[in-house]
Amino acid sequence: MTASSAKPAPVPTAPGALPLIGHAHRLVRTPLPFITSLRAHGGVVRIRLGPTPAYVVTDPVLTRTVLVTEAAHFAKGGRVFDVLRGVFGDGLATVADGETHLRNRRLMQPMFNKAHIATRGNAMIEQVRSMVGAWEENRFRNVFADMNDVTLAAFLVALFGMDLPAHLQEEFTVLMPVIMKGAIRQTLLPPWVNRLPLPANRAQTHRLTRLRVLIDRAVDHHSGGSAGAPPSPGHDPAEAAGCPHRAGADHERAGLFETLVAAGDQFTRRQLQDEAITLMNAAIETTATTLAWTLYELTRHPEVEQRLRAELAAVCTGRPLRQEDLDRLPYARQVLQEGVRKYGPAWMVTRSATRDIELGGHHIPQGADIVWSPYLHQNDPAHFPEPATFDPDRWPPDRPPTTRDFLFAFGDGRRKCIGENFAWTEMQIILATVLQTWPRLRLVSRPPRPTTAITVKPDRLTMAFGTA
Ligand code: HEM
Repeated sequence: MTASSAKPAPVPTAPGALPLIGHAHRLVRTPLPFITSLRAHGGVVRIRLGPTPAYVVTDPVLTRTVLVTEAAHFAKGGRVFDVLRGVFGDGLATVADGETHLRNRRLMQPMFNKAHIATRGNAMIEQVRSMVGAWEENRFRNVFADMNDVTLAAFLVALFGMDLPAHLQEEFTVLMPVIMKGAIRQTLLPPWVNRLPLPANRAQTHRLTRLRVLIDRAVDHHSGGSAGAPPSPGHDPAEAAGCPHRAGADHERAGLFETLVAAGDQFTRRQLQDEAITLMNAAIETTATTLAWTLYELTRHPEVEQRLRAELAAVCTGRPLRQEDLDRLPYARQVLQEGVRKYGPAWMVTRSATRDIELGGHHIPQGADIVWSPYLHQNDPAHFPEPATFDPDRWPPDRPPTTRDFLFAFGDGRRKCIGENFAWTEMQIILATVLQTWPRLRLVSRPPRPTTAITVKPDRLTMAFGTA
């Protein structure tokens, strides 16, 4: 891909650029139709955001080149990440490629292995059941907001332990959506505006300071809270799975974050905070968006909902869901996989060319922004026929691996999502619990339109949940 004797072909430029702003108006007004339309112009297409060019990769094979085979020359970076790094610090998702990233990824990996996550499954189920069970019957609900609250609560229980005080959880729940909104605003503005002492910037700094205090309290709480906990009376799956962690109920109460705290002087307090902030930001909206869209699709596809309910009834036989049921719910996994495919949920992720390089027969200059899009690839009719159709049967358990090659939702290569196992567990728990708790789902708003920020979100999604 890098060495070729043929002269590189010029990169085609997308039509419709305006003087000064380039294609920015199209990205703002019609982002998803615009980004998917680029496929018609070539495997790599040049767009302009104001004066700055960016190269959008529309060929999935070339995206693998960027993320995997030539990853050394396409570094994590670009405007959005640079802003997020400034806001959230050097957590795993925002830290630049290099030794620190590799080292931290190695230290964090055990947090997210499947067996380790399974030890938090029942605590998450308990948390989700109590929240979803508290919804008022047939009350009109903002489902995207609900999914944000439930995913955050389940994540906090898994991360910081089941005995996290309610007041801390409540404050996280209030703070996180506002911080996310502020961060998205900051990614859209020129960097110098974000440095001005404007009320909005000062408020965001204040909220982030408060978030760091809350994280400290959550970390200290579980350290202190776990110290005197009684030993587990029985089997500890973490120990059985060979997890390099303390065994017993005290550990289970402590949460996944214990892995980092136990790494002792490998992480300073500030770095622990950065990692917690990053994880929260990476974990919540992605899973909440997928769940919200999936619930919406169930209202449009009663046959899918019926199959899901039948699978759940056969596995749980009238009792509440348990962690060990999750592997026996393959159709639920297919349905969620199709939700992830159809809606992205990320639509624009960036890299930065570390040197002059050839990609797909085109010359890419050093320093150029490269854009790749899970949404674009996963809605490519060449690989997913009739991509607008929600069809969980695209993902039979024995599906050919070639189809899977075009699913980029969790990225690939060395910066691939570290939380993928966690996401599947959490999403299965929440979907199954909503269905178990509420026999009837009803859409009461018009069909939602996709809007874009970091993920592809429903603009409005109101549903009612009933028992009959
Ligand atoms: C449906 C759910 C999710 C989706 C679709 C998703 C998607 C992604 C994608 C596309 C990337 C790669 C970004 C890039 O290449 O620049 C990523 C990275 C990451 N994700 Fe996820 N994610 C999800 C859930 C989660 C969860 C639940 C967590 C934490 C528990 C998490 C933590 C992270 C972290 C820390 C990274 C950075 C990894 C690194 O750079 O080494 N994600 N995610």
